[in-house]
Amino acid sequence: MATAHIESNLEDIAKTVLMPGDPLRAKYIAETYLTDVKLINTVRNIFGYTGKYKGKEITVFASGIGNPSMGIYSYELYNFYNVENIIRVGTCGAYRKNLNLYDTIIVEGSYSTSNYAKEQGYDSPEIIYSNKELNKKLELAAKNLKIKVKKGIIHCTDAFYKENNNYEELVKKYNILGAEMETFALFSNAKTLNKKATCILTVSDNLVTKQETTSEERQKAFNDMIEIALESTLS
Ligand code: HPA
Repeated sequence: MATAHIESNLEDIAKTVLMPGDPLRAKYIAETYLTDVKLINTVRNIFGYTGKYKGKEITVFASGIGNPSMGIYSYELYNFYNVENIIRVGTCGAYRKNLNLYDTIIVEGSYSTSNYAKEQGYDSPEIIYSNKELNKKLELAAKNLKIKVKKGIIHCTDAFYKENNNYEELVKKYNILGAEMETFALFSNAKTLNKKATCILTVSDNLVTKQETTSEERQKAFNDMIEIALESTLS
């Protein structure tokens, strides 16, 4: 079996998938945290791995950047590979002064002006919400690991580079915490296919204070987020 973008066999992919944007992050997560790891996709260098976390079968599969790329991979995983749960693990740019670099955020909803949901057949909702059950599990895992998390609405943007960034207006109107680029398509697919999706993010830069992280600095905070996501799959 194969789909337009995934070469894996049906039995290669677990019911629960962690999705970082970057294929090399998928490799890092699989090699650092999973045992019995098998590389199950290399099409377009979008690496996917399946292995075990404390005995539970987990797939880590890259989404690529942006809604269209996330849209393709998450749809195929849900619809053709019978995946039930997808947890995006990524980074975001904070829209609030009080959000520090490396803070961890559980995404309760994704605000977007992207046409993804409309093209999929909806009356273009402004916000699509993540799965509450998965969010509760993430919160519980964070509490057990003694890692502080924030929760809220994120702006899923199609343009990383903007001429006029009106993020202050979005903060006022929707109480938005920051920006990333993939949750809207993921949550729209989950809604369409009656599956579960959520997202956990690490703050990698702050648009208000202009603080940025280096790639090495990001590692520790990234590990916190991955550990929360992996532990949440056990409950
Ligand atoms: N914008 C969009 N996506 C991001 C950002 C940002 O500032 N930082 C990390 N992912």
